[in-house]
Amino acid sequence: MIEKVLEEFKNRFGAEGDIRCYFAPGRVNLIGEHTDYNGGHVFPCALSMGNYAVARKRDDRKVRWFNMTYPDNGVKVLEIDSFAPNDNGLWYDYQAGVIWALKENGHEIPSGYDMVMLSTMPAGSGLSASASIEEIPAVICKDLFDLPIDMVECAKLGQYSENNYNGMNCGIMDQFASAMGKKDCAIFLDTATLEYDYVPLNLKDEKIVITNSKVKHQLAGSAYNDRRRESEEALKDLQTVVQIASLGELDEEGFEKHKDAIGNEINKKRAKHAVYENQRTIHAVEALKKGDLEAFGKLMNESHVSLRDDYEVSCPELDVLAEEAWKIDGVIGSRMTGGGFGGCTVSIVKSDRVDAFKETISKNYKERTGLDCEFYIADAGDGAGRIG
Ligand code: GLA
Repeated sequence: MIEKVLEEFKNRFGAEGDIRCYFAPGRVNLIGEHTDYNGGHVFPCALSMGNYAVARKRDDRKVRWFNMTYPDNGVKVLEIDSFAPNDNGLWYDYQAGVIWALKENGHEIPSGYDMVMLSTMPAGSGLSASASIEEIPAVICKDLFDLPIDMVECAKLGQYSENNYNGMNCGIMDQFASAMGKKDCAIFLDTATLEYDYVPLNLKDEKIVITNSKVKHQLAGSAYNDRRRESEEALKDLQTVVQIASLGELDEEGFEKHKDAIGNEINKKRAKHAVYENQRTIHAVEALKKGDLEAFGKLMNESHVSLRDDYEVSCPELDVLAEEAWKIDGVIGSRMTGGGFGGCTVSIVKSDRVDAFKETISKNYKERTGLDCEFYIADAGDGAGRIG
């Protein structure tokens, strides 16, 4: 894949000089949804799908960027000092945002750079194509300009720019997974402290199957910001009766004891999800470490129900995919993954049942929604960085 991007770069911008290659992955979250801005735990892994890029330093303060995935956008020629927050949400806005964020956080960028990139993942499908796009300029700038930042900092910069440049109030999970992924592992991340643990997936007879509902989660931004506000309101109410800094500090018992402090019924449901989902994530990782995949799968199913009923971020198509998966023999667990309102489900399926799974889901999904879904076998990969 990178050869194709390199060739395009050389044809477009010339073959001379110090040309370098990079990759930043998307992610799939196995459990722990909408917990990352509530001080809870998440459990994502980086994918082998993502964005490839080739770049070379320039002598002036311009960038020339070309995205082979969106050739109609042509070459974007931009001045790095002119970047200003906006909500256009195009691929180069996510990249400009990171360069702006570097500056805002005290990192001097000495020059611009030429870049060609290519995506190998579906956009708008809840697999964090945007985080992958953000980690590309983060690793390019880190490497080309020898910036004194580590990969956790790259993740934080991606989140900072998405929050403050692109107007999406996301948590840290996606950028962290893209920056910090590790082959064959998922990352058990405590978003309150950013402490993390790589947990080997050790799936001998099972596969992680991602099913794309093909419903784009385009309108998710405003609903996402609403959920975040509702969770914060619930936290404020709870803080009148219990000393906590985030919903992640409560367990099930603590929540049941104090929940009546939350005045608004909708906010109460949101907080319930955040608390229970965080606990499910902790229990799920314990189960996985013990090799109890059945328990892990059951918690995935419960996660979906909670996202559907209490957090209300699913959609009919994702519900159909999860419900149909639950009926199939050999499915250990299945749930929506990512922000919701469209996008993908993630399922753990016995390897010898994957074909049957695909066939049955395709047929029943089409029958019930009129839509065609798409499948990817997740291959947990390494995080963003230079690859050549
Ligand atoms: C989106 C956000 C993440 C996270 C998930 C939900 O992917 O970018 O920070 O909140 O939704 O778990």
